[in-house]
Amino acid sequence: MASTVIKNWDNKTWLSSKDYIESFNNFLIKNIKINSNCKILDIGCGRGKILGSLRSKIKLKEKPLGIDIVNHKDRDKRINFKKINALNLSFRKDQKFDLILIKQTIHLMKFGEIKKLLKILKRSVNPKGKILIFTLDTGKNEIPTFKLMKYKLNKSLNRDKKILRIITDLYPQRIKKKFIFDVKIDKEKYLDMIKKRYISTLIPFSKKQLIEGIQEIKIKYSKVLRFKDKLICIIL
Ligand SMILES: C[S@@+](CC[C@H](N)C(=O)[O-])C[C@H]1O[C@@H](n2cnc3c(N)ncnc32)[C@H](O)[C@@H]1O
Repeated sequence: MASTVIKNWDNKTWLSSKDYIESFNNFLIKNIKINSNCKILDIGCGRGKILGSLRSKIKLKEKPLGIDIVNHKDRDKRINFKKINALNLSFRKDQKFDLILIKQTIHLMKFGEIKKLLKILKRSVNPKGKILIFTLDTGKNEIPTFKLMKYKLNKSLNRDKKILRIITDLYPQRIKKKFIFDVKIDKEKYLDMIKKRYISTLIPFSKKQLIEGIQEIKIKYSKVLRFKDKLICIIL
């Protein structure tokens, strides 16, 4: 699963909109102590827009580091970037971060890989630093779907529940929060996201399955889609 290549997740979707990024970064600032001296790492940063915008917002002195297995040409220039599999990360003993973000990336890894990654990251976080893991809310998800997509998404959310249990077993002191963003998007635009397989659930679908799903969404939803994009945030 780690080899799944997601290229359109934050490619001009609500997930890369100014509003979303602003609201996400406000959530970070509200929930953890961060200031301009912080050293920040983002695992699976995609195009790095969240990190770049965070750098401007809190006037980070040091460029935050984003890592990803995909190197996007239109990556945010306000960050340092390293193309690497998170599982192969290793840091010098004196290289510690105050904030490590893992946003909507952990579900792409095997259980053993998650344990391994968290171990590596725990070693690389300052004593007062935090690791924040964001993943889709497994309970009350509102992502617009077609039937087959819903089936696969639910399967993946059930797996996410197991991941959350593993993390809780490893770190019983963990704190749980929710980040909720109100999405309003034209159906046409959302269909385009589906065509581009924006979410990992859609990656293995055949062209035919995708076309049928698009037809289903055309019928099922009105011209403008409104829903809540809900994430669980685990703080370690
Ligand atoms: C769903 S996207 C989330 C992107 C970004 N964190 C966000 O929330 O906008 C998942 C990202 O994780 C990256 N990724 C998946 N497995 C990875 C791994 N083992 N190491 C580093 N990056 C990985 C993907 O390439 C993709 O950019």
